Amino acid sequence: MPGHVDRADSFRVAGWAITAERRGSEVVEIFVDGASVATVLASRFRIALRDRGIAEGLCAFNHVFDNPIATFLPTTVEVKSSSTGKTLGPGPIIVPPLLANGTDYNINLDSTFYTASVRSISVSELVSKVSVLVLGPRSAKLNVAVNPRELELLEQSVLPGNTGPWRINESLGKPVVCWNVSFQVRHRKNPGAQFAIASIEDRAQDSSSTPTPQTIPLGVCIPCGTTWLELPSAEHWSRIASPGMTAEMFAAGGVNSAYKITAIAKKYLPAKRGITVVDWGVGCGRVAVPLKRIFLPNATVIGYDVDEFNIEWCKNQLSDVRAETCDYFPPLELAAQSVDLMYGISVMTHLTQAAQEIWLREIKRIMKPNGVCILSVHGDYSLLGNRGFSPIVFQQLKAFGISDISYNWDGLGPKLSLKGYYRGTFQLRQQVEEAWSKHFQIVEYLPAANELNQDFVVLKRI
Ligand SMILES: C[S@@+](CC[C@H](N)C(=O)[O-])C[C@H]1O[C@@H](n2cnc3c(N)ncnc32)[C@H](O)[C@@H]1O
Repeated sequence: MPGHVDRADSFRVAGWAITAERRGSEVVEIFVDGASVATVLASRFRIALRDRGIAEGLCAFNHVFDNPIATFLPTTVEVKSSSTGKTLGPGPIIVPPLLANGTDYNINLDSTFYTASVRSISVSELVSKVSVLVLGPRSAKLNVAVNPRELELLEQSVLPGNTGPWRINESLGKPVVCWNVSFQVRHRKNPGAQFAIASIEDRAQDSSSTPTPQTIPLGVCIPCGTTWLELPSAEHWSRIASPGMTAEMFAAGGVNSAYKITAIAKKYLPAKRGITVVDWGVGCGRVAVPLKRIFLPNATVIGYDVDEFNIEWCKNQLSDVRAETCDYFPPLELAAQSVDLMYGISVMTHLTQAAQEIWLREIKRIMKPNGVCILSVHGDYSLLGNRGFSPIVFQQLKAFGISDISYNWDGLGPKLSLKGYYRGTFQLRQQVEEAWSKHFQIVEYLPAANELNQDFVVLKRI
């Protein structure tokens, strides 16, 4: 009887162990899915063990995992005695998933799923070099296609990729893999060819016939040159993104989001020309500027933000986007039923559940009937990486489907006038669907559509 594991769950593993000679505390090694994660001395006092005459009760351990385990997938925990190498009873324990039922993980990545994100881009006078991370079905064989076709596709390579710390492809266990797609596009100094849109030709072999390439629009848009964009200083974009971002990355991220938003809007919007578009949380126009200048030149684009610093920059620099400071809570200075298309890129990701609810009502007020609203959220997909979240975040997610307690202390949060307003909010798809469908029809939910991290929720005002 060298010891026992009494409890293992997503947050901790607890038990007791004594040395083989039964003289005292034992060192135990803890394994999660076969990998050693910690070595601890089982020396905590527990009355029940003392009452049973075991090592005067000084042989318990209670190890809290650095990051919660088994968030979406069942995970095995095993504790071994260091001196004998033997596994403590009752043997390896399978911890059930915390946030998903059974073996189904809410994340809807099926055999038709594709998403992509530009990871690096280098633009010179004549050639743009691009590296894109693509997630898609395991069966696919990919080829890059570039539009307009007069742009010359120089080199391309499709190599196995990985999603960095997220390890999506492994942690999902779904038929989804990751590729690192790199290519070069040669362009001329031709104002009509300021950007290229890349799609992927999926040559997946269907067993009965010859492969038919299927063109998958990945929403990857590559600026050939950055002259069409007035770039703000790093002081401005660091408020809305990570420090160290290059001008090309700023441009590429914004133009890609703008392209995706336009493509979605065109599917659902009844009116195509002369529409009113609201960029809610416009920041320094990263998305609004390419949207207006490239994709929807006939639209009236209005950007709102609570951050006066960036709105000031927009007002001074952008003649084609109307920028307005707004309050942390509604209303916006817009008439009821006046907006055709609204989007909020990484705004809901910073709001409490209560603020989300209040803003959903306001968005409904200003949208025209059949108007479309695209909001990004930190959904199930962004949780997969399990990147240092506090156990409280997962407890909240388990109980309410949403966690909004994490203050944003090191980003824009402390710079805003309303302290404590700006959060890091995570929510499950199921919670979004239940809470948001009270106000809107959810016409599409696109996992990882924004920068391979945030999900897009496409709402229609009915
Ligand atoms: C992560 S940044 C994204 C900026 C921009 N959408 C982009 O993608 O570049 C979030 C922005 O939302 C703004 N924001 C937060 N709450 C807001 C609110 N209630 N109304 C308008 N803007 C808000 C912040 O000030 C910040 O500029």
